[in-house]
Amino acid sequence: MKIIIPVTEEDFKRYYFLRWKILRKPWNQPIGSERNELDDSSYHVMVCEKDRVPIGVGRLHFNNPNEAQIRFMAVENNHQGKGIGTCIMNALEKYAQEKSAHHIILYARENAVPFYQKIGYEIEEKSYLLFGNIQHYKMNKELRPDKHV
Ligand SMILES: CC(C)(COP(=O)(O)OP(=O)(O)OC[C@H]1O[C@@H](n2cnc3c(N)ncnc32)[C@H](O)[C@@H]1OP(=O)(O)O)[C@@H](O)C(=O)NCCC(=O)NCCS
Repeated sequence: MKIIIPVTEEDFKRYYFLRWKILRKPWNQPIGSERNELDDSSYHVMVCEKDRVPIGVGRLHFNNPNEAQIRFMAVENNHQGKGIGTCIMNALEKYAQEKSAHHIILYARENAVPFYQKIGYEIEEKSYLLFGNIQHYKMNKELRPDKHV
């Protein structure tokens, strides 16, 4: 499985389309609702099947020098459960380590909590409801101190 960093306008068009399709469209949210003000300064990765068409995407940004946050994890419906999400998380965590983050937080949708627990994230607290019905949980993972650079 190969991690690709989106670069071109076309890469980002496809990247955001998948984010919208998986995380916004099922709740009838318009195109554009999948983006936010931190996208331009965030680190983005995608896994592609062919021709730089993503089947999985994810994003990481920094809240402060010690704390990174992962958002907008989305894997194409018929590709879920094949390790793509884990591959994206590994790439984002590696980047956070390289940038000397001490820990990573995220706000997991209830359905995805077991996925994050499997790779070492722990629930810190029950958080917000998105679109009135998607419960989120704040989760945290401490990065190994001996790996801090
Ligand atoms: C959540 C998501 C990103 C995980 O990516 P994925 O490619 O499906 O996950 P992986 O195949 O890498 O799964 C790794 C492990 O977690 C498990 N897992 C994944 N999603 C799970 C879920 N919803 N419930 C329980 N276990 C889950 C897998 O079974 C797998 O376990 P295994 O190693 O024993 O086989 C993806 O399923 C997705 O996009 N879901 C819909 C959108 C979403 O909820 N995004 C997260 C927003 S916070």
